[in-house]
Amino acid sequence: MKNRDIEAAWKYHDGTKHSYWSVRSSTHFLDWGNRPLPFKIYPTIEGIALARDVPQTGVAVLAAISERVPLASGDAVPDLRDLARILFFSAGITKQRKYPGGEIYFRAAACTGALYEIELYVVTGDLNGLDAGVYHFNPADVSVRLLRKGDFRGNLTQATAMEPAVARAPATIVCTGTYWRNAWKYAARTYRHFGWDNGTLLANMLAVAGASGLPAEVVLGFVDVEVNRLLDLDTRREVSLCLVPIGSTSESSLPAPREAPALGLETIRLSKREMEFPVMLEMHAASSLASEDEVAQWREAGKQFVVPSSVPGGEEVPLPPPREEEKPKDTIEQVILRRGSTRTFDSTASISLAQLSTILDRATRGLPADFLEPGTQLRLNDIYLIAHSVQGLAPGAYFFRREGKTLELLKHGDFRAVAGRLGLEQQLPADACVDVFFLADLNRILERYGNRGYRAAQLEAGAIGGKMYLAAYALRLGASGLTFFDDEVVEFFSPHAKDKSAIFLLAMGKPLKRKSR
Ligand SMILES: Cc1cc2nc3c(=O)[nH]c(=O)nc-3n(C[C@H](O)[C@H](O)[C@H](O)COP(=O)(O)O)c2cc1C
Repeated sequence: MKNRDIEAAWKYHDGTKHSYWSVRSSTHFLDWGNRPLPFKIYPTIEGIALARDVPQTGVAVLAAISERVPLASGDAVPDLRDLARILFFSAGITKQRKYPGGEIYFRAAACTGALYEIELYVVTGDLNGLDAGVYHFNPADVSVRLLRKGDFRGNLTQATAMEPAVARAPATIVCTGTYWRNAWKYAARTYRHFGWDNGTLLANMLAVAGASGLPAEVVLGFVDVEVNRLLDLDTRREVSLCLVPIGSTSESSLPAPREAPALGLETIRLSKREMEFPVMLEMHAASSLASEDEVAQWREAGKQFVVPSSVPGGEEVPLPPPREEEKPKDTIEQVILRRGSTRTFDSTASISLAQLSTILDRATRGLPADFLEPGTQLRLNDIYLIAHSVQGLAPGAYFFRREGKTLELLKHGDFRAVAGRLGLEQQLPADACVDVFFLADLNRILERYGNRGYRAAQLEAGAIGGKMYLAAYALRLGASGLTFFDDEVVEFFSPHAKDKSAIFLLAMGKPLKRKSR
């Protein structure tokens, strides 16, 4: 079983670390003339337009990101309008901006380099407004395209070894990652970005599905070749990353799996030339699950993964519970439409401890996923912070103790310059009010879950980071995901973070208001 040969994940992780020297010695450059298309286009298939004016849920954003519709709450069947809402607010185009070489179509969720390598597909039974089939979602014309006609949900149920949420879902969204679209800029680090960018998108998807009254969760346990074949993917270019069953039905007569022959559907080339990065193909193959038995083991691993409770070693600052009048009333849809990564933070501004507390609390109340025990909070990642300017919190480095909802002081000091350096020598983390670092004990994760645990750790961080983005914008603050010098991050938070690995970074603060001339 390749998944158990965890040297593969270490090889990929260690081989794609950023350091001061790796960044300076990289020969990779941006070939603007060869910039990949931001959309997957099937030129021979007619699109089925989705309504662009579906009613919004009106659910308050903090509730949407932190509360969950239980699976057992009875029949909850999406119709086409629900699907349109979920797809649009996860991956739809929310803004567009011209630049000298063309136009950038910004999407609902943050994504490294605005390259949008995550594609969405829907595998559905008959719904009100949409016939059973396998569809691809194209945000460019807000439409879905039928790739296979008929009910193929049985194939997903089989591929997930009868995962209950998939078996009961009227429709399942499959998220895929397209290597080249992101690797054009980020080369082999793209495999990490698959988790980050899929994660931020999932934060939106889970929130909007829940706000629509539909249970939804993240399923990483599936036989890869089966799902890839169903979507007719060219797996040297694009691979399935996770499944999100949407809704639930008590209907027990699941369709049997059907033949899913290769379709060889034509798609428009992304670039004149594409480069392959073998380390990513190797990492993917080594973290693939080959049989239903392996899928069952994967789910079992989630039940057995025990998070050691941390023993506070330093002074602890309690996080205040948010006051009712401070709760933002904005809806999940309003906040998704408003969100956009902050490009310059105001280094003279501060946020309150209550705001930081609200963000940490709401974002870490749990991610419904097959690799986590239900109801558990953040699991695979630990949260470390550098606070620069949080009222009521001395500047310094902290560890978020989720059990006690406290911040444990690791060291006092003004670390703005250090944070700028850790965040790949960028100004954003130096000017922010607080930088949130996700670190994971990859030794324990890989030992328990195999290589696929690496996918899960990146994805969990991206999804929690995505929730933090939404919570920050709900509070009228700004945020930006960031990349980092891996080993320097771990060193900075050590000895507390000794033996952990840097996974994800999010800076939060107040956007600098440009003075009007
Ligand atoms: C995981 C992640 C890492 C990012 N890293 C950086 C970064 O290092 N520097 C930066 O300026 N922006 C970074 N961004 C912000 C993206 O450039 C931004 O999300 C993208 O351009 C889309 O714009 P939007 O977030 O405003 O919709 C990152 C975003 C994410 C989600």
